[in-house]
Amino acid sequence: MSPPAPLMRAVVATAGGALRLSRVPPPSASPSQVLLAVAATAVNRADLLQAAGRYPPPDGVTPVLGLEAAGTVMGTPPAGSGLARGDRVVALLQGGGYADVAAADVGCVLRLPPGWGGDDWAVRGAAVMEAWVAAYQVLLLGGCVRPPAAAAGGGPPPPPIEGTAPWGGSPPLPPRSPPPRSVLVTAAAAGVGTAAVQLAAAHFGVPVVIGSAGTPSRRAAVAALGATATVPRPPAAAPAADASPDAPPPPPPPCAYTDGVRAAAPGGVVDLLLDAVGGGGAWAAHPPLLAPDARWVLYGALGGARAATPAVPAALLARRVSLLATTLRGRPAAYRGGLVAAFGREVLPSMAAFPKGGRLAPVVHTVMRLDDVAAAHELVASNAVVGKVVLRVADP
Ligand SMILES: NC(=O)c1ccc[n+]([C@@H]2O[C@H](COP(=O)([O-])OP(=O)(O)OC[C@H]3O[C@@H](n4cnc5c(N)ncnc54)[C@H](OP(=O)(O)O)[C@@H]3O)[C@@H](O)[C@H]2O)c1
Repeated sequence: MSPPAPLMRAVVATAGGALRLSRVPPPSASPSQVLLAVAATAVNRADLLQAAGRYPPPDGVTPVLGLEAAGTVMGTPPAGSGLARGDRVVALLQGGGYADVAAADVGCVLRLPPGWGGDDWAVRGAAVMEAWVAAYQVLLLGGCVRPPAAAAGGGPPPPPIEGTAPWGGSPPLPPRSPPPRSVLVTAAAAGVGTAAVQLAAAHFGVPVVIGSAGTPSRRAAVAALGATATVPRPPAAAPAADASPDAPPPPPPPCAYTDGVRAAAPGGVVDLLLDAVGGGGAWAAHPPLLAPDARWVLYGALGGARAATPAVPAALLARRVSLLATTLRGRPAAYRGGLVAAFGREVLPSMAAFPKGGRLAPVVHTVMRLDDVAAAHELVASNAVVGKVVLRVADP
């Protein structure tokens, strides 16, 4: 009988929501997976929700927390994966990143380009996959297209995302014509938000990029990433429901958020809304800020899951708004893999060039040790983080 595999460190949440660094058996890889020796991982808001019992992992996925990792390939990867033992890679995971060893779907693993990050390769790599792939996804769903000049000068034109027709086959979402000329990025200082602002401004060339954030210093950070204007957070409180469901939409109560967007957007309205806030007062505030034929891409519910706003449907109808809701973690492997592959071809090379020419870079707020995971979650929950908190798992 072969001796049992040595135990590894891994973080799971207890039923009460506490984070526990335990010693557990390492994962085994399925035929379509590869094992990674994790060097660093990063905290996502979804990890906090999972720890609180509000975002369980998909069926069959490890309860170990962690949606992304940077590390080196272990063992013998599946034939045809293009990976080799010892490769430095980053991976988009459905779970398991807060551990010494993670099992990753080979389609969701990207080899880091030569020269990536120097001694800091793992820290910079750990901050990429969940936030940047999510941001890339919502901008594509929003109809963003890389300008022909940029595409010609910086590589091949934007590739199709194989296997990722957003509704599971055909027809895929048609490109928005013309591409959005203005985008409103909510929670722009967040992990996803900092990526979305940079991608919108520098990669997709959207001329007007408006970002919301909770404090003046956070708004300054968002402006430094390329936003053309910044505004406060959307209102938290939902307005009272209309007396009659058939009444015409009332104008939203003015607030610094709506006033700011109106002042910054051409004509006072935006072509694309990237909405991580969802409910609360944001839900009713947003429709009047959208241009005719705008896209509203909903990808989070930071502001809550409820909103008392029967006027919203009429406002969306009047503007012919496309409301798209999307997720990433629970999608089939083919969808996640297609998106990751497109991101690897189209965006990662520009990130590797930073700061020598490249304009896209993960924003790392601070680096903490895996042992300090509880403090890292508290820091993210405090809303004081700009970009990402990275957890170093192995010594550099
Ligand atoms: N659907 C997908 O594919 C997908 C993928 C990844 C993430 N997400 C979602 O995207 C969102 C952002 O994730 P993240 O990891 O980037 O977050 P994060 O880095 O933790 O940042 C979240 C930020 O949102 C703002 N915020 C917090 N509470 C809020 C509230 N009640 N109302 C309005 N704003 C609030 C805060 O910034 P300010 O104080 O500056 O406002 C906070 O720093 C989450 O909802 C997450 O679940 C979705």
